[in-house]
Amino acid sequence: MLTGKSIIVGVTGGIAAFKSAQLVSSLYSAGAAVHVVMTRSAQEFVTPLTFSTLSGQPAHTDLFAPPPDGSVQHINLATMADLVVVAPATANILGKVACGIADDLLSTIIMAAACPVLFCPAMNVNMYENKVVQRNISTLKELGYHFIEPGTGRLACGAEGRGRLAEIELIYEGIENLLWEKDMRGVTVLVTAGPTAESLDPVRYLTNRSSGKMGYALARAAARRGANVILVSGPTALKPPAGVEYVPVETAGQMYDAVTGRFQAADVVIKAAAVADYRPKQAAGLKIKKTPQSLTVELEKNLDILAELGRRKGRQVLVGFAAETHDLEQYAKDKVKEKNLDLLVANDVTLPGAGFNTDTNIVTLVYPGGGTIPLPQMDKEALAHRILDRVMEIRKEQR
Ligand code: CTP
Repeated sequence: MLTGKSIIVGVTGGIAAFKSAQLVSSLYSAGAAVHVVMTRSAQEFVTPLTFSTLSGQPAHTDLFAPPPDGSVQHINLATMADLVVVAPATANILGKVACGIADDLLSTIIMAAACPVLFCPAMNVNMYENKVVQRNISTLKELGYHFIEPGTGRLACGAEGRGRLAEIELIYEGIENLLWEKDMRGVTVLVTAGPTAESLDPVRYLTNRSSGKMGYALARAAARRGANVILVSGPTALKPPAGVEYVPVETAGQMYDAVTGRFQAADVVIKAAAVADYRPKQAAGLKIKKTPQSLTVELEKNLDILAELGRRKGRQVLVGFAAETHDLEQYAKDKVKEKNLDLLVANDVTLPGAGFNTDTNIVTLVYPGGGTIPLPQMDKEALAHRILDRVMEIRKEQR
């Protein structure tokens, strides 16, 4: 997806400068034309040769270096760029841009750029929390600059806290998000994902095989397309996608509260979560000890969150999922009506390449009027975009 894109990677003087080598390499491998611009301090940490080799073209370091064709270097670079990413971004570059200072190649490019600019701060925790730095970050955000927040952990200076350069994967994802066509800007999408877990005693719970991959793919795809995304997720091993509001929950009851509490704010709700239909009637306060006898656990019904949303539905586009093992189409057609849905994504979880814990899915889209669209096997990311395309069509028809 980065083929044909021109990306300027600004590297400023922090110990995390070495990590940008990985970012440059990933962007180059994905087909982008990568132009690295290093500040003087950055060159104290990594040599331009590293970046020239990884990007396949000379790293730029000097505002006054005569370009071979006699053109104005910083204006040329700023004009050709689809995106500028500054990783790592020091307190100094944030301060300079926030105050309108342009005194070297990178700061003049940022000043001249009309494309999105993404800052990835990395510095000592006290520097990061310094009120001046925080004020500069707020100013830059208000002005429309983008940020990938630093992570927390052990910093190079030995201190613990916020200030580590965000994971390169997250920065890469942030870049992809900014470059995607923004056809969902202004749309609030609430996605549920993963399983729910219902407590049996302090050490045991009832859950299901959902990995959360489909829901996370939907959240990521919607964020890329510019939507405001709220991801309500049961326990999974996945990292929340960049730029989404993440609401972790455990039980179906917690998911019910999280979803119904946010329903009014949502324009689209996609319920990809595999919600437990039942929970133990009583969760034991202490660990249940084994006895020679068999154990009977009484289960009671959880509320059906999707059915409740169907009853409350106003302007929202409501999308459900159905995991079936037999008579897929008939069950799906019944569910789409019973739950008052605009679209149901039905999959036969017994097919190879479909359902839980796979990277691909095979689904049939089912509409309330009885229409169906069977889709071929595709990866969950591609399927997420197909579902969002249909959602946008439904929104258009409703207006
Ligand atoms: N769902 C929900 N709340 C529940 C159970 C399910 O919101 N308590 C939602 C799921 O997120 C999914 C859809 O309902 O979008 C379908 O779930 P599924 O388990 O396939 O269907 P059920 O309606 O629960 O029916 P059954 O288990 O009998 O197939």
